[in-house]
Amino acid sequence: MNLKQFTLVLFAALTTISVFAQNKIIINADLGKEKIDKHIYGHFSEHLGNCIYGGYWVSEESDIPNTNGIRNDVVDALKEMGIPNLRWPGGCFADEYHWKDGIGPREERPTMINTHWGGVTEDNSFGTHEFLELCRQLDCEPVICGNLGSGTVQEMSQWVEYINSDNISPMTDLRKANGQEEPWGVRYWGLGNENWGCGGDMTAQFYTDQMRRYSVYTKNYGENRLYKIAGGPNAADYNWMETLMKNGNPGRSFQGVSLHFYTITHNWRNKGSATQFDEKEYFTTMRKTLFMDELLNNHIAIMDKYDPRNRVGLIVDEWGNWFDVEPGTNPGFLYQQNTLRDAMVAAVNLDLFNKYCRRVKMANIAQTVNVLQAMILTKDDQMVKTPSFYAFKMYKVHHDATLLPSDIISEEYSYERESIPALSATASKDDSGKIHITISNLDPEKTQEVVCEIRGSEAGKFLKGEIITAEKINSYNDFGKEEEVNIQSFEDVEIEGNSVKINMPAKSIVMVELE
Ligand code: AHR
Repeated sequence: MNLKQFTLVLFAALTTISVFAQNKIIINADLGKEKIDKHIYGHFSEHLGNCIYGGYWVSEESDIPNTNGIRNDVVDALKEMGIPNLRWPGGCFADEYHWKDGIGPREERPTMINTHWGGVTEDNSFGTHEFLELCRQLDCEPVICGNLGSGTVQEMSQWVEYINSDNISPMTDLRKANGQEEPWGVRYWGLGNENWGCGGDMTAQFYTDQMRRYSVYTKNYGENRLYKIAGGPNAADYNWMETLMKNGNPGRSFQGVSLHFYTITHNWRNKGSATQFDEKEYFTTMRKTLFMDELLNNHIAIMDKYDPRNRVGLIVDEWGNWFDVEPGTNPGFLYQQNTLRDAMVAAVNLDLFNKYCRRVKMANIAQTVNVLQAMILTKDDQMVKTPSFYAFKMYKVHHDATLLPSDIISEEYSYERESIPALSATASKDDSGKIHITISNLDPEKTQEVVCEIRGSEAGKFLKGEIITAEKINSYNDFGKEEEVNIQSFEDVEIEGNSVKINMPAKSIVMVELE
């Protein structure tokens, strides 16, 4: 073939792709090698607003049905959704928290002012024992963030000893005196939070030096091996990552490094309403949340440079939508409603964490109950499951499954003069050999026909389909009303040979299960 013929063939091939296969997902079913760690689907709960108090903790005396002071409805719902881990006590609160104030008889615990979140009085009735009881009820891994900003090395060291030691020691005795005989064996330990800001306003090098010092004195007890998470960068602060990875003794002083990135539609002063928004705002939220792709790519490149053996995990331990608080609520409590837009943002970010799962070993959306992009909202004894809850529930199929590397050829979703890909997706194979494909169609107006071509294995049989969609992009679930957004069954799937054709309604998230 001469050059002219080759050019014509190439042109014909490209034209064919663009005319007939605008939406195509090529799934390499035989090339999967990375596991999607279930901890990517983790959560975060801070002493902030009504996340802990009212959200989980109501005390044993409450009329709201509870077990050892913790709401039964919230625990049941989170277990239904799938919660592999829970990060606590903050957030900014973590670097002002003194753990000894939160143990022992509750009526004797000292109070403190929660300076970050509304200046309210914290009575410390929810402390280490209550948190670890919550994790027991949820059957999830605790992730504890220690105080490196305003606490001492000794304080952090003793907290770990109190929780994990089975030796004869003052901290072990204290724990036993407070009713917990056996050590809890907590594995995930944060060495501070946002230490470039609320966690001490440190420079990257100063934090790196401090972190190394604190790390030395947070010890392993018995068989338990700590997985220490260094306080990482704010969004695109690549210098912070570079400094930490270069000088922080990665793999020894810390096994994971955190990254925080919130999706803010406008700016910090005017973040926009969680429910009252138009398509322009919806598009902006989607465009901004997709920045996570670039962030992960760039931070991972730095990590690869200093840790080519991939020993250190990237832990995205705060992410999600941050809007203005609901009118009439305490501005320091960060209470926001949650719409179909939030479910789409959850799906897009989970797809990105899955895509980079070689390095991303944990992520924690902010913040489970009543705060920011919550899974659950509570009002007195009532509870609402948000659209984000349903996105997490649908994506449970990817927990600990093998990522199937996929190429996504997507139509554009354009608004005014800007465009983003209309589709976001993940394909994985679970231990029983079932393939799960989750796809989001971000376009709020246009249906997308998507052809998934399975390579390296049979497409097999269509077992089950699920969909999350709603009448409007700002549909939401509210107290005392029928749910407007949840998971419904989905059948618009055709299998022909190795192709799976899926008709994706506008503004929808679909899950297809194949055998
Ligand atoms: O999630 C709310 C706050 O956002 C956290 O306390 C802090 O870490 C971040 O800035």
